[in-house]
Amino acid sequence: MSSRCKVSYPSLIVLVFLQGVALLMFYGWYIQVKPQTPPPSQSKVHVLLLSSWRSGSSFMGQVFSQHPSVFYLMEPAWHVWSSAPRVGARFLRMAVRDLIQRVFQCDFSVMDSYMPEQRNMSKIFMWSHSRALCSPPACPLTPRGQISNQTQCYHTCDARGLQKVEDACNSYSHVVLKEVRFFELESLYPLLRDPTLDFRIVHLVRDPRAVVRSKEQSAASFVRDNAIVLEQRNVPASEVQFQSIQEICRSHIRINERAVLKPPPFLKGRYKLVRFEDIAFNPLKEIKEVYDFVGLQMTPKLEDWIVTVTHGKGRGSVRDAFDITSRNAKAVTQAWRKALPFSKVKKIQDACKGAMSLLGYRTVDSEKEQKNMDMDLLVPHEPFKFDWEAGTEEAARS
Ligand SMILES: *[C@@H]1O[C@H](CO)[C@@H](O)[C@H](O)[C@H]1NC(C)=O
Ligand SMILES: *[C@@H]1O[C@H](CO)[C@@H](O)[C@H](O)[C@H]1NC(C)=O
Repeated sequence: MSSRCKVSYPSLIVLVFLQGVALLMFYGWYIQVKPQTPPPSQSKVHVLLLSSWRSGSSFMGQVFSQHPSVFYLMEPAWHVWSSAPRVGARFLRMAVRDLIQRVFQCDFSVMDSYMPEQRNMSKIFMWSHSRALCSPPACPLTPRGQISNQTQCYHTCDARGLQKVEDACNSYSHVVLKEVRFFELESLYPLLRDPTLDFRIVHLVRDPRAVVRSKEQSAASFVRDNAIVLEQRNVPASEVQFQSIQEICRSHIRINERAVLKPPPFLKGRYKLVRFEDIAFNPLKEIKEVYDFVGLQMTPKLEDWIVTVTHGKGRGSVRDAFDITSRNAKAVTQAWRKALPFSKVKKIQDACKGAMSLLGYRTVDSEKEQKNMDMDLLVPHEPFKFDWEAGTEEAARS
């Protein structure tokens, strides 16, 4: 027995040596996967532009898309929702979450489930809105650092398969995805905890009265999305817009409270709230702050472009989407005050009271107040220091 256990000196040394090697390898692996390890500085930043319909998110999306360091996609989760139009948002939530997690990692194989078999670049929703898909390596049309033209891109750029899309995605320091299809933050926790992602959330909101007015102007295009937002509930046609804005307002409260009041440690410093109206009144200053938050530099070319599209020179599609000019910025953000009957304004305010108080939008108590343009309804900036006691009460009521 004992002779079998005898180990010669040289083999003992080899064993000890191998054990040491194994220990070192394990240590190396541990260092790599340890969740607290800060991401190496050369790794990417992943930004979710989280907004809702008709809130200026197409414009803010372009503000990212045109940046030379950004790979941007508009609404990749559209593919999920349009593949399952007869179910509710809650059911689709995790599929949406998983899709954007893969896309942040530049893995487009996730599109297998949502696209026809003959995939090419032009099958991605709103692909030509992405400057990166109009630039090398995806397409030779727009040199990096130039402002892209969506119409030209649409007619010139396309590629078989999604390999070039992945190559493009891999070649940028920032991946930015715009989504209007998140109504809470909890489903995003795995992304915040994912050690391979450096995840930031820019939450863009707008006065719900202006949102409703803007949605009314193209009501037909919201039928399917409203049904998903309302979980396919049987809602009378006249109530759909109010119940839908109520869901959206509730989601603003849920998201903002989660991120600001009692954020879990992995959420701290990763959330920024932006109001459409503040951007409309002061685009350069506000956009610089958003860039700072995600670690992007403003460039002279982008500054020129932002001034042009927000000051109404030229009729670019971006300005049309944003729908403001410097002269009428105030008028546009206030247009609902002339267009909506007070009875409707009141219903929206009732549906959104908590969110409006939280986000700094004053309610009006009469038609006279509504039409009195000297009365400013925007609570000035850095406010959202609202009274928490009053806030919960109103949140519960809304
Ligand atoms: C993209 O797909 C469409 C439809 O399958 C096809 O007609 C078109 O030629 C494709 N484009 C490229 C570049 O493969
Ligand atoms: C984009 O290109 C189209 C077609 O060449 C042109 O008509 C349009 O004016 C351009 N848009 C901008 C904003 O330059």
